Amino acid sequence: MNPKRSEPKVLGILRGRESGFPEDLIRAVESQGRGMIRAEMASIGAEPAERPLPYDLIYDRISHDYPMYHVLLRAAAAHGTYVVPNPFLTAADDKFLGAAVAHRLGIPSPRTVVLPLSGSLMLHDITAHSLRNLRWLDDKAWGAVFDYVGFPAWLKPCSAGGWLGVFKVHSPEEFFRIYNQAIFHGEMIKNDPAADQAVRNWLGRTTVMILQQDIPWERFARCWYIGGEVLVARYTPPRKKDGEVYGKYQDDPGFFGPALYERLRRYVQQVNSVMGYEINTAEFAIRGDEPYLIDFLNFTCDFNPKSIAPFYERCLELVARYLTRCLTDPAARLQAQNRDRAWGLLATGQAAPSARP
Ligand SMILES: Nc1ncnc2c1ncn2[C@@H]1O[C@H](COP(=O)(O)OP(=O)(O)O)[C@@H](O)[C@H]1O
Ligand SMILES: [Mg+2]
Repeated sequence: MNPKRSEPKVLGILRGRESGFPEDLIRAVESQGRGMIRAEMASIGAEPAERPLPYDLIYDRISHDYPMYHVLLRAAAAHGTYVVPNPFLTAADDKFLGAAVAHRLGIPSPRTVVLPLSGSLMLHDITAHSLRNLRWLDDKAWGAVFDYVGFPAWLKPCSAGGWLGVFKVHSPEEFFRIYNQAIFHGEMIKNDPAADQAVRNWLGRTTVMILQQDIPWERFARCWYIGGEVLVARYTPPRKKDGEVYGKYQDDPGFFGPALYERLRRYVQQVNSVMGYEINTAEFAIRGDEPYLIDFLNFTCDFNPKSIAPFYERCLELVARYLTRCLTDPAARLQAQNRDRAWGLLATGQAAPSARP
């Protein structure tokens, strides 16, 4: 942190493999900061808990994939570095919570069930005795889950991204085959097939999964929420089975029509302010005129210029503007406004009083 007021504020960006957006962001923030901000890629080593990091703000794009960063960021926040996204929020959020919150807010969302771990008895120091509160699912109980959600359904991790471990399942047989076996795709351990299989099995059996109703959509939207502003994109998800990597973003408000467009904007504002997100993406599968919120756990938004081309300049501008405001005016920081509100209300079931049963 920067003790002298006259010295520029320092922004550190924490990034993974991406390049393009972080470099552009550094240039954009420095240009908007007019000499009052220095922006750079953050540099992190083995850090003492007793010492603040030399950044006024860290914009984190990778700690979800590297737990050591995440541990460090929470302590950095405690020392006074403003961390975006809020590392306490990202540590606590998941897709099941998202589905519950959407429901309470009265936003259409797919029916979603959280499942006991398929490897419940394989965990260290856990026996059937440890899990006496868990109702073991017999055929009838599984049947009730399948009746509630329906087939096809989506089996996916409570907390992950980039379609990791996301499966569309069409029958109980297909569901159990995936649920009981290695569910993760891709190589987890290099050059050691036996170890790789063991790790995939372990992850498959110990990752908390949800089973979710399929929304057979005709239209799809991805919407950014950036520092309070909303951008709505027409989106075509990639056909992963055909090897497509990127979905297609189009700037086409007419595709939704004014009423649906406004509804999407309102829902995005609502969920993000209730959850306390500053920068996030929400995905809607739209059936008829009904937009179902299927995923808003995307706090490391897609800002790849190749992928989001028609929106890239606007996203860059909005992120740069918001981070610049946060650096130069602590009152602009949405976490400060939300600190007592969002999570206190969530924890006491008051985040969505209008939709309470
Ligand atoms: N309930 C659902 N109904 C229809 N399509 C879904 C549903 N859940 C997921 N999908 C499809 O799978 C993709 C990945 O699922 P998602 O929950 O967004 O995981 P991730 O966080 O990995 O992106 C979505 O973008 C969508 O195309
Ligand atoms: Mg998604």
